[in-house]
Amino acid sequence: MNIAHRIQGFEQSIYSRLKELKEEIFREGTALIDLSIGTPDMAPPEKIKRIISDCALDSKAYDYTLTRGTEQIRQACADWYKRRFDVELDPQSEVLPLMGSQDGLSHIFWAFVDKGDYVLVPDPGYPIYSDGLALVEGIKAPMPLKEENHYLPDLSSIDGHTAQKAKMMMLNYPNNPTAATAPLDFFQEVVAFAKKNNIIVCHDAAYSELYFEEPKPPSFLQAEGAKGVGVEFHSLSKTYNMAGARLGFIVGNAEIIKALETVKSNIDYGIFRPVLSAGAAALSGICDEAAKRNREVYKKRRDIWIAGCAQAGWKMPVSQASMYIWAPVPTQQDSFSFSKDLAKAGVMLIPGAAFGKHGEGYVRIGLVQEEKEIEKAVEIVRDFLNKRIKKDASGIEYE
Ligand SMILES: Cc1ncc(COP(=O)(O)O)c(C=O)c1O
Repeated sequence: MNIAHRIQGFEQSIYSRLKELKEEIFREGTALIDLSIGTPDMAPPEKIKRIISDCALDSKAYDYTLTRGTEQIRQACADWYKRRFDVELDPQSEVLPLMGSQDGLSHIFWAFVDKGDYVLVPDPGYPIYSDGLALVEGIKAPMPLKEENHYLPDLSSIDGHTAQKAKMMMLNYPNNPTAATAPLDFFQEVVAFAKKNNIIVCHDAAYSELYFEEPKPPSFLQAEGAKGVGVEFHSLSKTYNMAGARLGFIVGNAEIIKALETVKSNIDYGIFRPVLSAGAAALSGICDEAAKRNREVYKKRRDIWIAGCAQAGWKMPVSQASMYIWAPVPTQQDSFSFSKDLAKAGVMLIPGAAFGKHGEGYVRIGLVQEEKEIEKAVEIVRDFLNKRIKKDASGIEYE
């Protein structure tokens, strides 16, 4: 069969190679601690499970909720925004529920990008920005995220031609994979850049509630004029461990949201009512304690990993947010070779190159296993590095 050329690239991606590697390791029977995935390993709060199960018993809960969802969920999103960010939103025109933020992040391109249009995309970046764009045959204009710039794109380095041609800019803070956060000043710069170049800004804030330090990550919409140029995507997947329930939302510019609604209303018929009810309840504040506990768990895991690896001479920045650590490859290998060798020793990470050219030289560690497993993983890493690294009088030398 002839597969459409727009999806052919996906099959050769580094993710496919990682999947094959995982299968090979399972076949060999090596026990694997998998820190490569971005799925929360913890359960949603009891209250959420209860609302979903009670609501699922209601015979009236099985209708199409349609793209706009319920009044209740849109109001809950707007109220949460006011409470968390002090940003006012009109629940009728400036909020739309999504089947996970991925739903919106992938379909937004259908609303604005025609074949050959440019979109500014972070590199390294969460893959849906490039993959979603590939599905509409848009052209990716990568914005390198570099350590020396705190993993923020350098807007002044975007050449005039690209800035003029770009229709959209994708941003994501707290960032996957680098775990970087963005200050409000940066968002203010983005608004000015977007206004000057007539660019739509899409800020993915899926990890806004997984922060480990104060100040809490700001919303893009807190920047003055942001609503005039862009939107922000949120997810309940990580905040409340509801990943499989598929609930997220988009907020901000009414015109952009209307266009996304037009696309989606031709694709889906809405989110399951029990999920909408549970999400509205979670956002109302009844799960704030559970979200806080989540942060504490990830923070503890982060500290175990970083302290343990430091003992083997592998130093890395301390993540301020997200559920990831972004670390330089500690051997003189490329990120895929290092990840492959470490996986064969029993710990699977993601090579930074999976997130784009500028991810090379790094690996992403997902803090998605219990403390005991993280401790075991750290031991494997230490053992692995000790075997590889030969110390001599002048310091560390690599094999
Ligand atoms: C940066 C980022 N955005 C969006 C998503 C999608 O999340 P969901 O569709 O579950 O809301 C993820 C999932 O890992 C992510 O890492």
